[in-house]
Amino acid sequence: MKVGFLQMEPDFGRVRRNVERAFSLMGDCEADLMVLPELFNTGYQFASRDEVKALAEEVPEGFTTEAFIYEARKRKTYFVFGIAEKVRDRFFNSAVLVGPEGFIGVYRKIHLFSMERLWFAPGEDGFPVFDIGMARVGLMICVDWLFPEAARVLALEGADIICHPSNLVLPHCPDAMVTRCLENRVFAVTANRIGREERIPGKALNFIGKSQIVSPRGKILYRAPEDREEVRVLDISPEEARDKLITPENDIFLDRRKEFYERLV
Ligand code: ACM
Repeated sequence: MKVGFLQMEPDFGRVRRNVERAFSLMGDCEADLMVLPELFNTGYQFASRDEVKALAEEVPEGFTTEAFIYEARKRKTYFVFGIAEKVRDRFFNSAVLVGPEGFIGVYRKIHLFSMERLWFAPGEDGFPVFDIGMARVGLMICVDWLFPEAARVLALEGADIICHPSNLVLPHCPDAMVTRCLENRVFAVTANRIGREERIPGKALNFIGKSQIVSPRGKILYRAPEDREEVRVLDISPEEARDKLITPENDIFLDRRKEFYERLV
């Protein structure tokens, strides 16, 4: 199975341009599953709720999701991409999964980071896993990496590949995702953005790039640089994620001693 990411620098507020650029950067790359960054079509640093209102889209009826469904059919590719989702009078920081069969599902970010709390409602529907035939894919967004429960729940729900649209500003995530993969025996595709935004004076954000694909044994199969747009596609075997044995005697899931930690969470 060919899985990949697009690392790009969105231009804040220019949704059509960002969507068109994403497709042009992906060119005719052949992939079964592509992951794009969090909020890739709007940019990240909103300065008011009115901006969110102007740029958020309905799912699946909005421009961006419809454009991806069209491309998914044409390219026979599954896509995961981050957008600001409008649901009646509320907004979510969401990751959408579409494929050749159309809209498949959405994840609404559960752990909101910093000023996201001012604009977005926290997701209330849990961490979803979808079976796309070739693999089972789980969705989480950016700072969810800091909550090991997110990747754990996705893995326990059967995810082979965690798709992880991101806008990372802290330096730790790329290395932390190695542990998330190792402790759950799953693949992870983190698609981050690059560049800088300072739409709120004094609150500059520098995005760290380093999008990556990590194996269930914690191997960084590829990590992008921090300052360059890039498309990367690798061949993986999703079934590797179904082997949870760490030694012939140890199964990473069966060996859990839930009675010692479940009451604390
Ligand atoms: C983040 O969650 N965008 C850091």
